[in-house]
Amino acid sequence: MREKRPVIALDLPSKKDMELFLSHFPKEESLYLKVGMEIFYQEGPSIVTWLIDNGHDVFLDLKLHDIPNTVYSAMKGIAKLGVALTNVHAAGGKEMMEAAYRGLKEGTPTGQPVPKLIAVTQLTSTSDEQVKEEQLISVGLNDSVRHYATLTQEAGLDGVVCSAHEARDIKEHTSEDFVCLTPGIRLASNDVGDQKRVMTPSKARENGSTYIVVGRPITQAENPYAAYVEIKNEWNGEND
Ligand code: C5P
Repeated sequence: MREKRPVIALDLPSKKDMELFLSHFPKEESLYLKVGMEIFYQEGPSIVTWLIDNGHDVFLDLKLHDIPNTVYSAMKGIAKLGVALTNVHAAGGKEMMEAAYRGLKEGTPTGQPVPKLIAVTQLTSTSDEQVKEEQLISVGLNDSVRHYATLTQEAGLDGVVCSAHEARDIKEHTSEDFVCLTPGIRLASNDVGDQKRVMTPSKARENGSTYIVVGRPITQAENPYAAYVEIKNEWNGEND
């Protein structure tokens, strides 16, 4: 089986910073890179095609949330870029998620794989209190996350973004092959930064993560390639 690659969160402000970051890696190393809205709104879609043309896979993290028809059309355009993975907010509803998937399928050029589609359930910045008091969801955060995960599955999507702490529970309520993409990953030796609930790559694997997303432990490392290899090895169970 092919080695699993950690997804690197490219939270960098410009293409120039990306070039500098990527220069630390061997030229032939194909990376799985998360491109978020900060850089996308600065550089536009060309940043995505540039990364893909350089041999990388892209997770385009734009978290779409709008009426079904708009999301459908936007996803058609995203599919044309050739991304491997993208996402929506589950709060947009089942019909919106179905429309998103339809857009991806219809926008994918013939012969290319359809990008995987996952949903954000509740943002990790959202508290149980906010879920109850602002969203008026009286069951609270955990049940809301579970509910959105099953709704996502019913809409035919591939999975969700979640905390590695939630992955096992979500898989039990959906299916073992339901994608759980989990940020908030740190090596035991890393700084936790502003992440509140972190997990190591090996623990995340045991807990059911399908993909791990790692940003600063790699992007801010003195030697990003060495940090990447260390995290990749642990994620693949090579230190067990
Ligand atoms: O630098 P760090 O490893 O904390 O970066 C994690 C990445 O995952 C960031 O791009 C962050 O915005 C994103 N993310 C997160 N928690 C979520 C969803 C996304 O940390 N629940």
